[in-house]
Amino acid sequence: MSVRRLAPKELQPASFTFAPETLAWAKAQIAKYPPGRQASAAIPILWRVQEEHAGWVSEAAIRAVADLLGMPYIRMLEIATFYTMFQLQPVGKKAHIQVCGTTPCRLRGADDIIKVCQSRIHHEPFHLSKDGNFSWEEVECLGACVNAPMVLIWKDTYEDLTRGFASGNPSKPGPQNGRQFSAPLGGPTTLKEFT
Ligand code: FES
Repeated sequence: MSVRRLAPKELQPASFTFAPETLAWAKAQIAKYPPGRQASAAIPILWRVQEEHAGWVSEAAIRAVADLLGMPYIRMLEIATFYTMFQLQPVGKKAHIQVCGTTPCRLRGADDIIKVCQSRIHHEPFHLSKDGNFSWEEVECLGACVNAPMVLIWKDTYEDLTRGFASGNPSKPGPQNGRQFSAPLGGPTTLKEFT
């Protein structure tokens, strides 16, 4: 698991301003919650901000979301630095690859996936590839252990990976070995009368 820190000052934009349509959307989210529970909108708003700003949240953006929700900065910083779904420094333009490095994925070959990321993107996590298109990091279990090893790229998981995954473009998210979801290879073996 990586240390989760804000990007250094030289990478931080000086300020953050909500786009008008983002602000309208955020206010609609906040209105869904009863008075005093506006903090419940923190994660969706932070996620939208990340999606609209090159895949990461700056310190200024985190503070702006806190101001919008009337929350102390420290509470929004706690959220942004706790969840690995939030990126705290610039990431690859095409993909930021989050490789699960927890035990089931390790036992099924996560080391190979990490080696591919090191050789094709950068030896160290959180560094951009030379062309700026890719970055990677190791994260804790992402809940797809039965399809280990796996990675998360933006909102999509790619599962049942092998070293060859990185040498081509996976055609679609999900298992890369042909099985349906987490069914056995070759198809279901139980409850077949209901398929
Ligand atoms: S251990 Fe990798 S998804 Fe759970």
